[in-house]
Amino acid sequence: MNRTDAEGPDGLLQEQVGYYRAIAEEYGHLALPFPGADELTAALDAFRPTGSVLELACGPGRWTAQLLGHAADVTAVDASPEMIALASARVGAERVRFVRADLFRWRPDRRYDVVFFGFWLSHVPHDRFAAFWELVADCLKPGGRVFFADDAYRTADELIEGERSTTIRRRSMDGTAYRIVKVPYEPADLERRLARLGWRVAVRPTSGPFFWGSGHKEAG
Ligand SMILES: C[S@@+](CC[C@H](N)C(=O)[O-])C[C@H]1O[C@@H](n2cnc3c(N)ncnc32)[C@H](O)[C@@H]1O
Repeated sequence: MNRTDAEGPDGLLQEQVGYYRAIAEEYGHLALPFPGADELTAALDAFRPTGSVLELACGPGRWTAQLLGHAADVTAVDASPEMIALASARVGAERVRFVRADLFRWRPDRRYDVVFFGFWLSHVPHDRFAAFWELVADCLKPGGRVFFADDAYRTADELIEGERSTTIRRRSMDGTAYRIVKVPYEPADLERRLARLGWRVAVRPTSGPFFWGSGHKEAG
């Protein structure tokens, strides 16, 4: 029996929150260290996230600032108070509402023109994929749009359960080990999975390890 079985799936998800709480400070100062990051920024600007925007798993707010360049207002949700503090310090409070919540339990109190998430989808376990996309649909106004960016980057030493497992191990700066979820999506496959759920989303690779997706849910 591995630790995931022993603690249940929620144990893994709580450990994932613990990891991001522990690394918030270092993560907040990290620049995306790969080619292709500029392409994500350009793709998001071209998408034009206008109107009321919901940002899921906002982290230290590196996307929040860019969203605010287009949006009338942004609601930014994250489970880590440390991440929210960094994001709030970065973008201020004007036109932004921060919500501390666990996205596997949170429900929206209103609907949005755009839902955005950066480097979050790969942390959603396979068995919660459909429920997560139902949440995204429930957050959108009719005709609303979605944009996400992500990567499939996993190093060999992180693969403690082997290449096929989506549970990996990462360490904080002090060496503490945490299990987190990292699903290594391949863009074309992700596009097909979303189509099966009724989403018309184009998923495009960049010249580096990143990819981005944009689209909408088919009516009905
Ligand atoms: C890889 S970071 C991405 C942060 C930000 N979107 C970015 O691109 O820089 C993942 C984020 O998910 C948040 N997170 C992890 N588990 C969560 C959960 N269950 N509910 C809400 N946020 C969660 C972490 O606190 C962290 O800020």
